[in-house]
Amino acid sequence: MEPVTQILHNLHGGNVLDIATGSGGFLIDLSNKIPGFKNGVGVDNNPFSIKTAVKNNQDQRFSYCLMDAACLSFHDDEFDVVSISNSLHHMPEVHNTLKEMLRVVKPGGTVIIQEMMSDSLTETQQTHRDLHHWWAAVDRGCGISHGNTYSREEIMALINEVDLINHQIIELSDLESDSLDLELQKTLEPVFSRYFNRLSTLPDANDLLAQGEALRKRLKTVGLHSATALYVVANKPG
Ligand SMILES: C[S@@+](CC[C@H](N)C(=O)[O-])C[C@H]1O[C@@H](n2cnc3c(N)ncnc32)[C@H](O)[C@@H]1O
Repeated sequence: MEPVTQILHNLHGGNVLDIATGSGGFLIDLSNKIPGFKNGVGVDNNPFSIKTAVKNNQDQRFSYCLMDAACLSFHDDEFDVVSISNSLHHMPEVHNTLKEMLRVVKPGGTVIIQEMMSDSLTETQQTHRDLHHWWAAVDRGCGISHGNTYSREEIMALINEVDLINHQIIELSDLESDSLDLELQKTLEPVFSRYFNRLSTLPDANDLLAQGEALRKRLKTVGLHSATALYVVANKPG
């Protein structure tokens, strides 16, 4: 069994809250792996994400709400498990988000944090990171909160600012797949087009346009693997 699946198998599910749930895939994955899962709640501050998550999952055990991660409208100690995946770098108030996650999880309950890292990456993984940083710069240009991804040390420093114990830390990467996979290039092409369209509405976007073109070329020459993600499972003191 993979190390993350092994850790999740040893948890007790009950009520699970997923912060910045996006289209909801991370929450569904947790629901399939954590024993005793009863209900899942996904929150996100983007109405489009909530609509997509609802559309993707009609299972009655799940619900989705529009909410800011830094100001959760749940009671203290309400959830058995609270998670966040690849979203800390999107948060303008990342410390308050982690504090809120700790507030709403039960004493002895579990916090799960998955976050892609910006350092210790292979050349092919750096393509993913650089692409991500380009998307973030375009998003910021359009007024959307989206920072560059954090280094491993920065992620751990953020996590260590909140009172969690029993940290289990795993680094996740997959360097086996074909970094020059044509299907992947085909999937990313519409994403490039969307971001170039958005750039065309911004003033002084020449540098970002050049960066986007260089990344489009890099994808086809250097190739891409997903950046390593840090997967941290820890407990609120009981
Ligand atoms: C990269 S997506 C991650 C989605 C999902 N967790 C995953 O791993 O696939 C980042 C998500 O964070 C959400 N987000 C950004 N700022 C937020 C905030 N302040 N409160 C709640 N959600 C937020 C975005 O709307 C987006 O759905």
